[in-house]
Amino acid sequence: MNPPLRLRALPFALRAGLTGVALALLLGLWASLDHLRTAHEKRDELPGLSLDDLVASYHGIHAPARLAESLRSGHAPELPQAERESLLAWLGSKRVAEDFDNPDLGAKAPAEILAARCTNCHARKSQDPGARIPLEYWDDVKKLAFARELPATPLEIVTTSLHAHASSMALLTLAVMALCFCTRWPAWLRSGGALVGGLALVADLSSWLSARESAAFVYVIAAAGALWSVWMALALVSILLELWLPERERT
Ligand code: HEC
Repeated sequence: MNPPLRLRALPFALRAGLTGVALALLLGLWASLDHLRTAHEKRDELPGLSLDDLVASYHGIHAPARLAESLRSGHAPELPQAERESLLAWLGSKRVAEDFDNPDLGAKAPAEILAARCTNCHARKSQDPGARIPLEYWDDVKKLAFARELPATPLEIVTTSLHAHASSMALLTLAVMALCFCTRWPAWLRSGGALVGGLALVADLSSWLSARESAAFVYVIAAAGALWSVWMALALVSILLELWLPERERT
């Protein structure tokens, strides 16, 4: 299908104006990707943007303490049952930090049990692979001693954000699609691009809600969001090229 009009055929002033619009949209795209990074990177309490940050925002993370998990799963089979239970009781208590090396507990203090039963493997100097996870000091132990409870962003905030994003991003996508349709590029590319951009947008936005139920949708958000951004960048570049590349002579 031929375009109803070609951007290249527009008057110079109009093409210059459209160039400004396309450049502003590219700037906006860059800014929103950068905003995504700064807004989410600390979400899982670890530096750097990772999928866990997105899982924490859109789904929430409920991870039990690794120390308790491994004790419950029967790790360290040599550990006497009474000591296992006393460690688990300590991890389930409200005094995890205070009681770690509480002298009143004597040989039952968690630090004493760990030193007696665990640090032959879990020490920096140990030859055992367990040395990768040292349990010598409170600073080592505290990283594994607490559950990670990172609730998802409240639904009210998600719907408020969705109400702004869904309509503005849909209109933006529509405008860029329409401009792309008026370029010299082959019809399959113009239609295929529209298909990708439009479907990626709705997949991304609708997954904001589905991700609350199932963390798998966080991957859809990430993949569809990336696809939409790439589509947007390529579409804007193709519009800029159409605006300024000279027409090829037809023979
Ligand atoms: C015989 C050696 C050995 C002993 C004793 C031992 N561990 Fe381990 N432990 C290991 C090894 C090996 C790993 C796996 C390390 C890795 O994944 O790199 C491990 C892993 C762990 C992990 C991490 C589990 C996870 O989430 O990946 C925890 C927590 C742990 N041990 C706690 C303990 C505690 C508490 C004790 C004492 C009660 C103990 N271990 C005694 C060898 C040992």
